[in-house]
Amino acid sequence: MKITLSVIKADIGGYVGHSSTHPEVVETVREFVKKECEKGNLIDFDILTCGDDIAIVMTHNHGVDSEVVHGIAWNAFEKGTEVAKKLKLYGAGQDLLSDAFSGNVKGLGPGVAEAEFEERPSEPVVVFFADKTSPSAWNLPLYEMFADPMNTAGLVIDPKMHEGFTFEVLDVYTGKAVKLNTPAETYDLLALIGTVGKYVVKNVYRNFDGEIAAAASTQRLSLMAGKYVGKDDPVLIVRAQSGFPAIGEILEPFSKPWIVEGWMRGSHNGPLMPVSFEDARPSRFDGPPRVIAAGYQIAEGKLIGPADLFRDPAFDKARRVANDMADILRRQGIFEPHRLPADEMEYTTLPKVLKKLEGRFYDAEAQRVEEEEKVPEKGDVD
Ligand code: 13P
Ligand code: 13P
Ligand code: MG
Ligand code: MG
Repeated sequence: MKITLSVIKADIGGYVGHSSTHPEVVETVREFVKKECEKGNLIDFDILTCGDDIAIVMTHNHGVDSEVVHGIAWNAFEKGTEVAKKLKLYGAGQDLLSDAFSGNVKGLGPGVAEAEFEERPSEPVVVFFADKTSPSAWNLPLYEMFADPMNTAGLVIDPKMHEGFTFEVLDVYTGKAVKLNTPAETYDLLALIGTVGKYVVKNVYRNFDGEIAAAASTQRLSLMAGKYVGKDDPVLIVRAQSGFPAIGEILEPFSKPWIVEGWMRGSHNGPLMPVSFEDARPSRFDGPPRVIAAGYQIAEGKLIGPADLFRDPAFDKARRVANDMADILRRQGIFEPHRLPADEMEYTTLPKVLKKLEGRFYDAEAQRVEEEEKVPEKGDVD
């Protein structure tokens, strides 16, 4: 049976500030989607939260980019926004950039990750969901999961993985994408995806047969709205086992925290901390950035789960290390590289500051030369 797994997420109001979601809003979203499921529009659904974001996980037979499925998510988020507005939650409706739904949520604010595939005899999947970061946060772990044999033993051991994987990389500024085949083009891939503000991995396909292996949300709200409206906290779908990386290989990159964009005011770098569902409530300097991993077994389209995969003492050290990294970065205060470079800053007053000081900038070099010319040279005296 061919099914589609769609994960659509949005921040429709924070409780308190940007730290978490409010149960009444989450319940409103859940109730709306449940009714649609009962009507037969979806096979199954689940609701996840991470920080101030809500994700609707859906299985169905409508394929990717379905108006029905996107419409359900949009309307659920609108219903949730009404409650968020009533409770005057912070940034109520933050990610719903348009007043009207027009067939597809892409470009309207919510983040979308979708994959259509034939359900295998056993179909384990992981849905990652992060807050206080951006879609490029998945670049490094996706590389390790699907192209680094030191992380993923299956690349060497599993015959279906041995031919490698192809990464579809999107330039978020131009909307152009390129497919890069690993291992052959690994260095080209890394040349692009190391530039995290511009290139994001959109999909990963298995070379053996072209099967979809991973799908990420790639929306950049800041580029869509032209001003700060949230840092596009992303979702990622990864298929696991028999021909794909094992669950443990998929989670392994998160045992070594790395630094991502999107902490405090969307304008700081910080370590991505893998946490349990319970601990996905970033409050220290609005962070540090968090990621949860929800595991499901899909059975005839039903979502069996979720399993809270980072709720494992084996990730305690990663959390400790992430806290140490956070201390090191916080030491920098408002200075780069903790603060993002000017062109990546979101709540930016920098142009205003530059405008204000415009007339006060003088040519220091010319002044220096002038001063130098004034100084009499040795021998001129007397
Ligand atoms: P089991 O032997 O527990 O099924 O594990 C197989 C495996 O490959 C785990 O990575
Ligand atoms: P969100 O993108 O999660 O809404 O966070 C905004 C922010 O800048 C918090 O400091
Ligand atoms: Mg928010
Ligand atoms: Mg958020």
